[in-house]
Order: sequence, then C-alpha cells, then structure tokens
Amino acid sequence: MPVAHLGSLVMAKFNREFVRVPKQRNIMKALSLKQLKTPLELEDRPELVPAANQVVVQLKAASVNRRDYWITQGMYPGIELPVVLGSDGAGVVAQCGDGVDSAWVGREVLINPGVNWGDVQAFQSDEFTILGLPADGTFATEVVVPVSQLAAKPAHLSWQQAAALPLAGVTAYRAMFSQGNLQAGEKVLITGIGGGVATFALQYAVAAGAQVWVTSSSQEKINRAVELGAQAGFNYRDETWSKQMKQQAGEPNLIIDSAGGAGYKSLLNLAAPGGRIVNYGATTGPPDKVDMFKLFWKQLHLIGSTMGSPADFARMLKFVEQKKIAPVIDSVRPLAEANAAIESMKSSTQFGKMVLEING
Ligand SMILES: NC(=O)c1ccc[n+]([C@@H]2O[C@H](COP(=O)([O-])OP(=O)(O)OC[C@H]3O[C@@H](n4cnc5c(N)ncnc54)[C@H](OP(=O)(O)O)[C@@H]3O)[C@@H](O)[C@H]2O)c1
Repeated sequence: MPVAHLGSLVMAKFNREFVRVPKQRNIMKALSLKQLKTPLELEDRPELVPAANQVVVQLKAASVNRRDYWITQGMYPGIELPVVLGSDGAGVVAQCGDGVDSAWVGREVLINPGVNWGDVQAFQSDEFTILGLPADGTFATEVVVPVSQLAAKPAHLSWQQAAALPLAGVTAYRAMFSQGNLQAGEKVLITGIGGGVATFALQYAVAAGAQVWVTSSSQEKINRAVELGAQAGFNYRDETWSKQMKQQAGEPNLIIDSAGGAGYKSLLNLAAPGGRIVNYGATTGPPDKVDMFKLFWKQLHLIGSTMGSPADFARMLKFVEQKKIAPVIDSVRPLAEANAAIESMKSSTQFGKMVLEING
C-alpha cells in the first residue's frame, strides 16, 4: 500500500468524530540528548518518514518520567547517544507507512511506550524496549512508532492528560491489578505519593473500592492524596511512621512501592500476614537488609512489576475510561523547557506528572 501523506488540511473520521489532519510538515523539532549530564538541545531535523507498519504521530503533548532523568545522568542500561528522550506522547497521526491503513491519518491517539512485549503475560520478551531509548521518543514535534503502539485518545482526557497517562498509567495498573491482585475492600499502602506512577496507583485503588494510605516526604502532598481519596498519610522521613500506621490504620494487604532502599524493612514489618509487596522501582537503591524470618513467617509475597503488556495497556485504558480517571498533572511547560522539568526531578518537588506542550 502506498505511503499516505496528506500535506493539506483534510477531514478524517475516528471514534464517530471528525478531526483535523495536521498542517504540512517539512521540518520537525526535537530535543536531543547529545552528552550525558548536559541539557537536551532543541534542533531542527528533516520530517520523519515511516517505514512499513509504522506511522508518524504529530505530537500535541508529551510527559516526563523519571526514566528520562536517569538516562540524562547515565544511570540507565544501554544508553546510545544522541537520542531523543520521551516515552509518553499523544497527538494526531500524520502519515502512514506501507502496510498501514491510510484511515489512520487524522486519528487522535496516545502511544503505548512498551514495544515488543511478546506473547507471555507474566514477563516481557528479551526484545522489549521502551520508546525514547533506543528509538527516538516524544520530546519532539513528531515521533515515528509501529502502528501497533497506537490507541485511541480517551474522549474525557485533554491532550495534556492523555500524554500524562501511558507509561505511568500502565505501570501503576499492572502493579496494582495484574501483579498486586487488588480486591475491593482491601487495605493498600502506596509509598512516595508524589511520584507520577504513585498518583495513578492511588486513583486506581480508590476507584476499585480499596482503602488507601500513602507515605510522602511532604504533608502538602499527603493532603493532596487525601483530596484524591486516601484515608491518611505518613511522613516516611519520620522513623516511627510504620508504627503510627499500624496503630491508626492496621496492616495493609497490599503495598505498592518504588523506593526500595533502607525503608523497605518497614514494609515487611507493616504488611499484613499473607500480604503482597509489589515493587516497580528502587529509587533509593536496594534494601540494606531483608528480614527473611518476617518474610517466611508472615507468608509474604514479594512481587516485581515492570510497565505492562499490550493486554495490561488495553485494560488500563478501559478502566480509566470507565472510571473517568483524569491524570494528576503537576505542571505544563512548552517543549523547549523540558530541561527544567527533568532538572526538577532531582528534588522530587512534583505531585503527579510533568507535561510538555507541543504543536500548541
Ligand atoms: N519498572 C517500571 O516499569 C517503572 C515504571 C515507571 C517508573 N519506575 C521507577 O519507579 C520510580 C518512581 O517513578 P516515577 O516516574 O513515579 O517517579 P517520580 O514521579 O519521579 O517520583 C518519585 C517519588 O519517589 C518518592 N520517594 C523518594 N524517596 C522516597 C523514599 N525514601 N520512600 C518513599 N518514597 C520516596 C518521592 O515521593 P514524595 O515526593 O511523596 O516524597 C518522589 O516524588 C523510579 O525509580 C522509576 O525509575 C519503574
């Protein structure tokens, strides 16, 4: 099938709504990481050309993940420079490669950043990659991705909200439901509630009928979490926080953690007998000690989780649409100011997702 490149304004039908196909492209702008620990550089590049089974998406918004920060600092495996960072994006399909139905042109989409998951639900294949390294990502005016990575933008979400959803949204979904097996009425603890994934986890657990507690370094963030439906929160910098929680709230059946590190032993102490502790990250490094006695005597389940399969992604979108979940957005900046957003991750001042506006 020939490449379908529409250079002028036309109308295309998608989701029973007519949407405008983007204007002629020619050049694109991309934020390139050329050297570790240096700011991303905004540069002009020739417009992207999709290969077979690929599409070009003209981006409306992108969002920042801690992964982008880890890569700029050289703290991520397999870094190849230069690279355009950015795993999350939402926009309009501008061009289709061979083998892609040209009806895709003009559709409003968000992008599943997990590529080549494979056929097994339990874990990803060796070919699994994440958009934004090694393939160029979404901190650009356009991105090229396999058409299989596209999903319709949920109608209740703005461009900014749609761009905030994919990576953190699917990570929280798999951790909470596919791996954590959350049941309505259970007690859940989510650590570090300021994090992008953690805020989705809170919204999902509340929507699923759980009772949710959180930890944070900030009382203000705990207050925000309570507004989103948490029962209460505890400051993880206070060494007595887990005792306080046990007294006030009891023991959680499910703990969703991405901090790891020295605080991990509190989680084993706090979990209810038979409880599950799901980790999707280790922001503060490995735990210095895991109490094996607690682990086997309490019959605990320690579970790892990473991003999500295409099935997780589809279920996550359905859940978000059914429950009308709107991602928590910390801030919105123009694409050219992405460096400020990445830099701010050093101090973790954000609550929710940092979004970049593109092609505004
Ligand atoms: N495996 C995967 O698929 C996957 C996917 C996404 C992210 N991750 C990893 O998961 C982690 C979080 O990612 P993110 O994008 O949500 O990050 P983020 O938005 O940058 O959030 C990080 C949060 O970690 C919390 N934190 C820091 N030190 C803590 C501690 N000692 N105890 C508890 N919480 C602590 C802070 O919460 P407060 O501000 O509330 O104090 C901070 O806001 C990162 O390590 C990331 O690389 C993994």
